[in-house]
Amino acid sequence: MKPYTLMINGKAYSVTADPTMPLLWVIRDVVGLKGTKFGCGMGLCGACTVHLDGQPIRSCQIPIDLIKRNQTIMTIEGLSKAGDHIVQKAWVEHQVPQCGYCQSGQIMSAVALLKANPSPTDADIDAAMGGNICRCGTYVRIRQAIHSAASAMRQAKKATPSSPAKKQPSVR
Ligand code: FES
Ligand code: FES
Repeated sequence: MKPYTLMINGKAYSVTADPTMPLLWVIRDVVGLKGTKFGCGMGLCGACTVHLDGQPIRSCQIPIDLIKRNQTIMTIEGLSKAGDHIVQKAWVEHQVPQCGYCQSGQIMSAVALLKANPSPTDADIDAAMGGNICRCGTYVRIRQAIHSAASAMRQAKKATPSSPAKKQPSVR
């Protein structure tokens, strides 16, 4: 057992764990954040997807000992306090979840995709989301929700007033 400090969702957690314990188990069983799911445990299904320094990773595949002290982890709980992140709202709007088991991993992958590519095509979505398996077959709605979230994000960006231009000295 070794002591670790993990930055998860902007908060520091001091934990003691076996160095070989997968990050997923630390998140769920030691820290107690249960939104991230255990699916295959083999890096194949994406249910355990979280962000490490902003990049989506399979937390079942990373031993806790490989996480550096200054790295940041974000789980589904960190997206928004009220569950109203723009992607979560699109998921509700399109009634994506069926059993729901895969959906936190799906949403974390979708958020990472939209951060990297604000206007993804169907092919971009299929490529980015291909590692997230849904046994209920919600893929069509996932695609619709991602397009909807992308559009809402673009609208929100347009509506945000840009910083006022510097006042030019009068020439008269
Ligand atoms: S549980 Fe990690 S990829 Fe399936
Ligand atoms: S909603 Fe059931 S596994 Fe995806």
